[in-house]
Amino acid sequence: MKTAREIRQEFLDFFAERGHTIVPSAPLIPKDDPTLLFTNAGMNQFKDVFLGTGSRPYVRAADSQKVIRVSGKHNDLDEVGRDTYHHTFFEMLGNWSFGDYYKKEAISWAWELLTKVWGLPKDKLYATVHHTDDEAAKLWPEVTEIAPERVLRFGDDDNFWEMGDTGPCGPCTEIHIDLGPEQCDKKHVPGHECAVNGDCARYIELWNLVFIQYERQPDGTLVELPAKHVDTGMGFERIVAVLQGKSSNYDTDLFVPLLRKISELTGADDEKPEHSVAMRVIADHLRSLTFAIADGALPSNEGRGYVLRRILRRAARFARNLGVREPLLYKLVPTLVEMMGDTYPELKEQETHCQQVILAEEESFGRTLDKGLELFVELTEGLKKEGKTVIPGAEAFRLYDTYGFPLDLTQLMAEELGMTVEVDHFNRLMEEQRERARASGKFALAEKGRDWKVLSDTAHSQFLGYEYLRSTAKLCQWNEDEHYYKLVFDRTPFYAESGGQVGDTGLLRADGEEFPVVNTVKDQDRIIHLVPKEKAFPIEARDFQLEVDHSRRRWTAANHTATHLLQAVLRKNFGAHLHQAGSLVAPDRLRFDFTHYERLTADQLEKVETEMNELIAAALPVWTEWMDYSSALERGAIAFFGEKYGDLVRVVQVGEETLELCGGTHARNSAELLCFRILSEGSVATGVRRIEAVTGKSALELMQKERGVLREAAEVLRVEPEAVGKKLAEVMEEQAKLRKAQEELEREKALAAGDQALDNLKEAGGVRYLVARVDGLPMDLLRENVDRYKSKLQSCVVLLGAVHEDKVSFVAGVTPDLTKTIKAGELVKSVAAVAGGGGGGRPDLAQAGGKHPEKIDEALKAGENLIISALSAR
Ligand code: SER
Repeated sequence: MKTAREIRQEFLDFFAERGHTIVPSAPLIPKDDPTLLFTNAGMNQFKDVFLGTGSRPYVRAADSQKVIRVSGKHNDLDEVGRDTYHHTFFEMLGNWSFGDYYKKEAISWAWELLTKVWGLPKDKLYATVHHTDDEAAKLWPEVTEIAPERVLRFGDDDNFWEMGDTGPCGPCTEIHIDLGPEQCDKKHVPGHECAVNGDCARYIELWNLVFIQYERQPDGTLVELPAKHVDTGMGFERIVAVLQGKSSNYDTDLFVPLLRKISELTGADDEKPEHSVAMRVIADHLRSLTFAIADGALPSNEGRGYVLRRILRRAARFARNLGVREPLLYKLVPTLVEMMGDTYPELKEQETHCQQVILAEEESFGRTLDKGLELFVELTEGLKKEGKTVIPGAEAFRLYDTYGFPLDLTQLMAEELGMTVEVDHFNRLMEEQRERARASGKFALAEKGRDWKVLSDTAHSQFLGYEYLRSTAKLCQWNEDEHYYKLVFDRTPFYAESGGQVGDTGLLRADGEEFPVVNTVKDQDRIIHLVPKEKAFPIEARDFQLEVDHSRRRWTAANHTATHLLQAVLRKNFGAHLHQAGSLVAPDRLRFDFTHYERLTADQLEKVETEMNELIAAALPVWTEWMDYSSALERGAIAFFGEKYGDLVRVVQVGEETLELCGGTHARNSAELLCFRILSEGSVATGVRRIEAVTGKSALELMQKERGVLREAAEVLRVEPEAVGKKLAEVMEEQAKLRKAQEELEREKALAAGDQALDNLKEAGGVRYLVARVDGLPMDLLRENVDRYKSKLQSCVVLLGAVHEDKVSFVAGVTPDLTKTIKAGELVKSVAAVAGGGGGGRPDLAQAGGKHPEKIDEALKAGENLIISALSAR
């Protein structure tokens, strides 16, 4: 039996023999394409070629592409696990023609590979064509031995392929295989009849040949493309199952070792129907998760991260069905890496990282599920108390959305309590959420040149900026918006923002006038210079002098080289699992995001800083070289996630320290960095840390600034800079002592003032009382005074008021013998009310505040009246 690996290789060899360049799979995270969350077809990496905005050095290509289909137009998530031939992650074997061969070759080669090389029975194959595609319908029996009655016509749903809501598309022809009536998995469905496109496991689609000729516009219309192309895709797992004579993709060597490992860890048995769905889901989802994380994605609360989180939670829930409550998925990663790590080396490199991310997510989901269960209990108990038996749709949706409870789980648990779920409302909310997700997935297409004024045909600007900072150039295309002229020249030294490095700024000269370039950006092969519309621009001049801001570029280049060295130093110290997750390279600073699990300690950061400066001091030469992608990888170059590489790549090497694929501009020698200083280290997301740092001029400025601060402090403290810390500690101690003494003094003063207040002692109904204003005392000292009077006088009523820091405070005290006559709490409450406040307390001691200091006398007067009338009425 052929292994999956051999089958993959035979496909590639077949097309290599027919003049196709074998290209690597693009990463699962598409670069520069906001219309896609994940790479969903082999053709994604060639979208620009189809649209006519990019080119490749070849016109025929083939590959095996990693694909995830769980969102947007192509979404198979709900099928996965329930049947044996849908996957969230799969490999797609593809061959392409870019304006080269067309339908005839595509059809006859597909037939030849399937029937001659792989020996599939000719009488079991069917071809479907778009109902309008007479050409393909005619070609099939002409160029292959297929029986004419097995060429079937279908409509747009089956035979018109589109990448997404917008983008390249066209009619397609598909090859299906009849695996025999015993394979049908819909026998129990009333009215089911096995047929091509009949949605059961008997007739399976193997290969889709798309004839790309249109671009779908955001308004839904189709625009004819400049050339016609072929884009084919064959489900690798399916062809492997067919060629290995297995009725399920999960019985092939692409899945068996994973299923075996699941059995070993859980005791589950895939012969048992109650186990098999869960095992398939876990195996399938584990592949998606590991491949996506290895390509730089991370579970999170939005976008692709949210999709990953949902996949993980679906798998984790199915694991619970197998009775596993502890994290399980992460334990399967090594098995997958062993199976596929040779074909996809990124798996090997990221093995630890993938395991850590998956484990952390599984643990946090475990906690969420437990919280959800608590919520469920609370919710149902509340409903029961109200005599209700229906769980509102909104609550079921909350359980789903926030706590990852699928509807069927909520229903099951409700059933156990004799309750039901309001399913219609739940479904409506789900639909609304899908709608929201769809709306946010519709992005405007990048400018493609239709609105551009074209002065000459050059669509490709030549970038001179690796060597030159100044150049003459001709204007080829231009465009404008409210604020800027957008100018494209035949060649330019200006670097366009990309790979984290900011765009160049500088000057443009024409007709003896100067114009500032405030930014440079890229649109496919076009380098666009932005010039503010401050004055009229001489479009007609045609000849321009372009000059990049030298100093800004120089420091940007130094920072770019620093990020490469920093990655090398971090990997050396903390392990090769660590890789770049993002960066910003600006003239005045750099930011480097990297995957790592722990905070770096102050000592570790210092070590990194020291090693960086040693590399700078070593004056390492920086080499740049163009080479083909595979030689670069062979030489061990680090390729960043999300980069889309053409065949020829630029490699940047700093001494013997680092070798990276990079299109950015760099220092010529590490010594140009002068110095490296870390500004901060922190966390950006689970498993991603960020270092911010400066080099060169900014590092120098930072040191000077720090020295200035220190010098100023030293001068103020009148000591040498080294003694600042010690001196400051002394000063602080001194200050604390002074503060304490001051407080003591104030207390004494307050008590003295209180004693003086005793002069105001009066009498009513034979009882002594005191009402006094003692401004400047805080509440606690007021209370202390009241207590003192009470114990001194034995039988009395006291009311003190004070304005302190713009606030009014009152404290009332009544000795126990009099609390029946008048209560401190009530007294102080009435008094405070006059000054716009409130408060209260016990009958013998109470306090209150007021908002209007100007009313304090009035309030105290009112208090005195209350006291007099209460005491007189005794
Ligand atoms: N783009 C087509 C598909 O994904 C053929 O590769 O089915």
